[in-house]
Amino acid sequence: MSNEAKLELDGKTFTLPTLTGSENEKAVDISALRANTGYITIDDGYGNTGSCTSNITFIDGDKGILRYRGIPIEELAEKSNFVETAYLIIYGELPNHAQLKKFSDLFTENQYLHEDMKFHFQGFPGGAHPMAILSAMINAASCFDDDLMRWQWGRNKQFDIYVARLLSQVRTIAAYSYRKSKGLPLIYPKQSYKYTANFLHMLFSTPYEDFELKPEVVKALDLIFLLHADHEQNCSTSTVRMVASSQANLFASCAAGVCALWGPLHGGANQAVLEMLAQIHKEGDDGSKFITAAKDKNSGKKLMGFGHRVYKNHDPRAKIIKKACDEVLSKLHITDPLLDIAKKLEEAALKDPYFVERKLYPNVDFYSGIIMRAIGIPVEMFTVIFAIGRMPGWIANYKEIMEEPKSRIYRPRQIYTGKTINEFVPLDKRK
Ligand code: SDX
Repeated sequence: MSNEAKLELDGKTFTLPTLTGSENEKAVDISALRANTGYITIDDGYGNTGSCTSNITFIDGDKGILRYRGIPIEELAEKSNFVETAYLIIYGELPNHAQLKKFSDLFTENQYLHEDMKFHFQGFPGGAHPMAILSAMINAASCFDDDLMRWQWGRNKQFDIYVARLLSQVRTIAAYSYRKSKGLPLIYPKQSYKYTANFLHMLFSTPYEDFELKPEVVKALDLIFLLHADHEQNCSTSTVRMVASSQANLFASCAAGVCALWGPLHGGANQAVLEMLAQIHKEGDDGSKFITAAKDKNSGKKLMGFGHRVYKNHDPRAKIIKKACDEVLSKLHITDPLLDIAKKLEEAALKDPYFVERKLYPNVDFYSGIIMRAIGIPVEMFTVIFAIGRMPGWIANYKEIMEEPKSRIYRPRQIYTGKTINEFVPLDKRK
C-alpha cells in the first residue's frame, strides 16, 4: 500500500510523502506543500501539526502511555530518581556509576550563583511572583558567563557544564526567589546535600537551624520533579524549541520556557487547582456547584487540573501522584480536606456526561498541589516546582534541535485576513 498522500486541489492531484515513527505514529509531510501547490495548512492550536521528529519522549494519549527514552513513567517513578531520570532524558541512556557521579559532581560545582546576583534579587518588590523572578534570573545568571554571552551554537565544548549549571542553579534561583518574596535571608546550598534535599534546605532552613529533611518529604518532592521532567511538544517545550531555533543560548531558551509554563492553562494549573479547591472548601460546596459552573461556558470557570490536549484517557502521572498523595499524607499524619474535595470532584466528574463525552480526565496538575502543600511548598511556588522538574526536558529538546544537522529557524506562515490595500490619511484629515 502506497505510503503517499494524494491531495486534490484546483483540479490537480498532488502527491505528498508520509512518514511513520517508531511507535507507528503517522504524518503527512507538507514541507513542500506551499512550493508545489501555493497552499499552506492552518491548524488552530497546532492540535494536528507536528513541529519535529524527536527521540526523547513518547506519549500515547488514548492509552495513557508516557515513556522517557522508551522507559515507562511508572517504572522510573518506582525505581529511579530525578537526577538519574534527568540524565536519561538529556543524554538518551540511564547513566552508569561514573556518569552519574560526574553529573552529580557538576551539580555541586555549579550550584552557587555569582554573588552579584544578590543585587538583582534585591531589585524585585516583595510580592513579586517567583515565576517572574525565575525567568528573569535565569537570563541574569547567564550574564555572568562570557562563553554564554558569546554562545557558539553547536560548537560549545562546555555544553555539558552549562546543562549541569542550569539544572543546578535553577534550584538556587527558585529557592532565593521564594526567600526574597518573604523577606527572608538567602540560604546557601550545602556541598554534602543531594539535589532535592539541597533545594528543600535552601527553601526552608534558617541561618540558625537546618530544615529537618524527612526522607518521605525529600522522596515525594523528588517524585514530583521526576514526573514533570518531560512531556514531548507541550506549550513550554515548543517555546524552548522556537527560541532555540534562532540559535539563542541555552539559558535564554529555557527562560522563555518558564514564561510559557506560567500560564494557568499549562503549568500554572497546579496553583489554580489549589485555589479552586480552597474556594470550594471555603464556600462549603461539596463540589457539585463548582462542577455545574465548570460546564457552563459563560461562568468563566474550568475544572482546573482536568482535561488535556493529548491524554484522552487517564494521565499516567495523575494516577501515580494520587497514590503518592495518600502515602505521603498518611506518613506525615496529615488529613487535608482539600484532598477529600479533590477525590469527590474526580469521582463526580468521571461520571458526568459533560466530562465523559469530552474525555476529560485528571491531569498531572490535579493532585500535585496537594502533595506540595502537604510537604510545605507554598502555593505560589507550585509552578516553580514544575519548572525545576521540566528543566531536563527543555534542555533535552534544546540539545536535540542543536544537534539536528538540518535544523532551521521556526517560522510558521499565516493567512492574512486584515484590510486589503489601504491609503495613508494625513492627521488633519482624519475623522
Ligand atoms: C499541563 O501539553 C502538555 O503536555 C501539558 C502538560 C505537560 O506536562 O507539559 O501535560 C501539563 O499543562 C496539563 C494541563 C493543565 N491545565 C489545566 O488543567 C487547565 C484546565 N484544562 C483546560 O484548560 C484544557 O483541558 C486544556 C488546556 C488542558 C486542554 O485544552 P484543549 O486541548 O484546547 O481543549 P479544549 O479547550 O478545546 O476543550 C475541549 C472541550 C471544550 O468544550 P466544547 O467547546 O467542546 O463544548 O472540553 C472543554 C472545553 O470547554 N474543557 C473543559 C475543561 N477542559 C476542556 N471544560 C471544563 N473544565 C475543563 N478543565
